[in-house]
Amino acid sequence: MSKVRIGIIGTGYIGNVHGRIYSGDERAEVSALFDIVPERTEAAARKIGGRVCGSRKELFEHCDAVLVCTPNKTHVEIATDAVSHGKHVFCEKPFAIGIDDARALLETAESGSGVFQVGHNRRYAPVYAKLKELLGEDKAHSAHIKMNRGELKNPVWTGDVNVTGGFLYETTIHLFDMMRFQFGEIEELVAYGSQHEYPELDEFSVIVKFKNGFHCTFASSSDASWLFPFERIEVFCHHRTILTQEMEHLIDSRGWDANFETLSWAMTEKEERWGYVQEDRAFIDAILEEKAPPVTALDGFKSVELVESVYEAIKSGNRIRFE
Ligand SMILES: NC(=O)c1ccc[n+]([C@@H]2O[C@H](COP(=O)([O-])OP(=O)(O)OC[C@H]3O[C@@H](n4cnc5c(N)ncnc54)[C@H](O)[C@@H]3O)[C@@H](O)[C@H]2O)c1
Repeated sequence: MSKVRIGIIGTGYIGNVHGRIYSGDERAEVSALFDIVPERTEAAARKIGGRVCGSRKELFEHCDAVLVCTPNKTHVEIATDAVSHGKHVFCEKPFAIGIDDARALLETAESGSGVFQVGHNRRYAPVYAKLKELLGEDKAHSAHIKMNRGELKNPVWTGDVNVTGGFLYETTIHLFDMMRFQFGEIEELVAYGSQHEYPELDEFSVIVKFKNGFHCTFASSSDASWLFPFERIEVFCHHRTILTQEMEHLIDSRGWDANFETLSWAMTEKEERWGYVQEDRAFIDAILEEKAPPVTALDGFKSVELVESVYEAIKSGNRIRFE
């Protein structure tokens, strides 16, 4: 069987992560690279292989599947172009910025001939896969979720709302997608936000109710600190608390006493601990087996819908209901 030829657009941090993983995957081959900064294309080619392309058009001529690894605001245009060239597409998060662009890309993705997968890597992280398994055996009542950053300075564009679409699109969207993955579809939410350090809303408190009766609180700050765990989910069940700390530990406490069991992935390689290896493998599985990927364009759309709903709730002061 011939290898799936991978073309990477945007050879910065995450483009290199995926490139490194695919250069070690026997079912795939890094065949083409393109970055608007030519030195970055050349530097990546030296490390992960692949033809150095001078344009997107040239890249499309030398690959079967395209990874969109450019800054947020460019995803829709590049992913649309790739679908229209008949390519399988892996689009980094966020799927799009704004509901109109998200809807347009959803239609494009669903009308395309290939696989369209969105880069919500955390779904594959062992800690979150384990949480989902445990929640499948128990009935969760409520949760408290936190997703913080220490700064919006690295890379520099993370603090530029014209590039990111806003902090919720850049960071928080990861655990917004995770809420749907773990707890189901959302019925309604209320949200409060404020602005402190950056020229955009940078602190958020959200209360979410799910269609199945589950509810949670969600706090997200963009300039708190990188205190571990900057990402945490605490789920409360009947005489049970399950706590995740970043993608390293899961603590499961059961019964009437303060007993707990700790699972750790601290010694697992980061690319596997964060789910990148598994999501890249899932993309190739979907292509070769002609099946839907685990994170679809519709999932991408719903994460954008959630971000937009929180911004709308803060702006209007209204409770937002979902269809
Ligand atoms: N899933 C994750 O955990 C994760 C982690 C990091 C980044 N991301 C996402 O991946 C994307 C890239 O982030 P990054 O940290 O790699 O950024 P980066 O700045 O390190 O790399 C982006 C690269 O894209 C290039 N680029 C910009 N516009 C381009 C265009 N139109 N065509 C071709 N190349 C272009 C830039 O020159 C740069 O080299 C962002 O959307 C980010 O949100 C996801």
